[in-house]
Amino acid sequence: MKKIAIIGAGNMGGAIARGLAASEAIENYHIVVSNRSTEKLKQIQQDYPVIEITTDNQKAVEQADFIILAVKPWLIEEIARELTYTEKQVVCSVAAGISLETLSHSIETAQAIYRVMPNTAISKRESMTLISSLYSSEQTDEELLALFNQLGVAMLIPETQMAAATALTSCGIAFVMKYIQAAMQAGVEMGIRPKEAQLMAAQCVKGASCLLEERAAHPSVEIDKVTTPGGLTIKGINVLEHEGFSSAIIKAIESAR
Ligand SMILES: NC(=O)c1ccc[n+]([C@@H]2O[C@H](COP(=O)([O-])OP(=O)(O)OC[C@H]3O[C@@H](n4cnc5c(N)ncnc54)[C@H](OP(=O)(O)O)[C@@H]3O)[C@@H](O)[C@H]2O)c1
Repeated sequence: MKKIAIIGAGNMGGAIARGLAASEAIENYHIVVSNRSTEKLKQIQQDYPVIEITTDNQKAVEQADFIILAVKPWLIEEIARELTYTEKQVVCSVAAGISLETLSHSIETAQAIYRVMPNTAISKRESMTLISSLYSSEQTDEELLALFNQLGVAMLIPETQMAAATALTSCGIAFVMKYIQAAMQAGVEMGIRPKEAQLMAAQCVKGASCLLEERAAHPSVEIDKVTTPGGLTIKGINVLEHEGFSSAIIKAIESAR
């Protein structure tokens, strides 16, 4: 069974630690979390008493097979450089915008280096997690995918696509929230209570997402199913197009990369 060290117990490191601890992927005593201060570590240990905690980063990584660096981007190089790795260890950085090449200057001996980009839904174990690698093998790819698939859906992509894919997935969470917020505004204007409108819009997004899980699914197919000729849905769809909905989404995602 693999051992995992997480350096940084903030939003992202804490969510990864909690998500893995709640999953079947790993025994909780194989997770060690290190953080500069102790408050967040104590909270994690309160939730999952068997997880090991420490403020000593090197001690945390010593027995680990996978090391996840979850500190702020401006600290990642310094912290990565301070640690000593073995040639068997796999090092993953979740730092936004820090390239594999930059990381490779601070991490010389590892078996493989990965960039891992979850989104905030990782706290609900529903992240879309993007993964790019340097010196990786099929085995480490599969092991890492298996880990992050416990926290949602993970996908290997070339690093050249990381910025564009992050715009779709990390910024995408905010864009989808804007749709939900706008749908709520419409609902409230038509007399629906805000909480109820929120549930209706959010469940609708969740349902739409579930419909696309089927093998041959495509948005056009699902749209066709609800657009009766001469009906109300096609009127609404055409208003969206006249008002530039698709164009706004395309421009928003392209501008966010
Ligand atoms: N939040 C997201 O949605 C998201 C999404 C994708 C990627 N990321 C990436 O995840 C990384 C972490 O972001 P975050 O939002 O989780 O930040 P955060 O909440 O500030 O967490 C960073 C943690 O690192 C700890 N830390 C700082 N210096 C340390 C050191 N020398 N040794 C050990 N721990 C140290 C901090 O401890 P103290 O509290 O003691 O300072 C803090 O708990 C960033 O690089 C970000 O780009 C975040």
